[in-house]
Amino acid sequence: MKNNNIILIGFMGVGKGSVAREVIKHSKKYMTIDTDDLIESMENRKIKSVFAEEGEAYFRKLEKYVAKWLESSVQNTLISTGGGFYKQTNLKKIGIIVLLDSPFDAIIKRIKEHPNAAKKLKKRPLLADLKQARELYDARRPEYLKLADIVIDVTDKSAEACSKELLKKVKKYA
Ligand code: S3P
Repeated sequence: MKNNNIILIGFMGVGKGSVAREVIKHSKKYMTIDTDDLIESMENRKIKSVFAEEGEAYFRKLEKYVAKWLESSVQNTLISTGGGFYKQTNLKKIGIIVLLDSPFDAIIKRIKEHPNAAKKLKKRPLLADLKQARELYDARRPEYLKLADIVIDVTDKSAEACSKELLKKVKKYA
């Protein structure tokens, strides 16, 4: 497995962070980081502010910078990514790519049922308009599927169940 990293990709709100935290609970083989958290640390401001103050193109440049650093410097890590990070051209060089997959309506239902739903929606500028978000989902899903080494359907499954499935499926690549 390349650098022994696992990269979690998938649409906003699909549960990449929750699954990553569960995997770490069950396997001490990995550390975990999140590309959005890295960007917020670099910028000392929230993603929402980066989008509002600098625009999306600036945010995508930061993602590129993070992707280069991941490739050159990170090992043995489960990397949770923002929903648009899949566009980075060096993804395959960073690690094995795991897609967390679910239909758009199920993702939105999952977010809306979360106790922190308002916060979860507010922090994601690209979910502000659900019609546009659906179009983004429809455009991205085939790309996610093309890139993925492993696909996990997360619909109606707990983060724990998804994490177990992930660990089982990545074993093949060890
Ligand atoms: C984005 C997804 C967000 C964050 C940013 C842009 C996207 O991350 O990176 O708001 O383009 O899909 P999550 O997938 O963790 O919500």
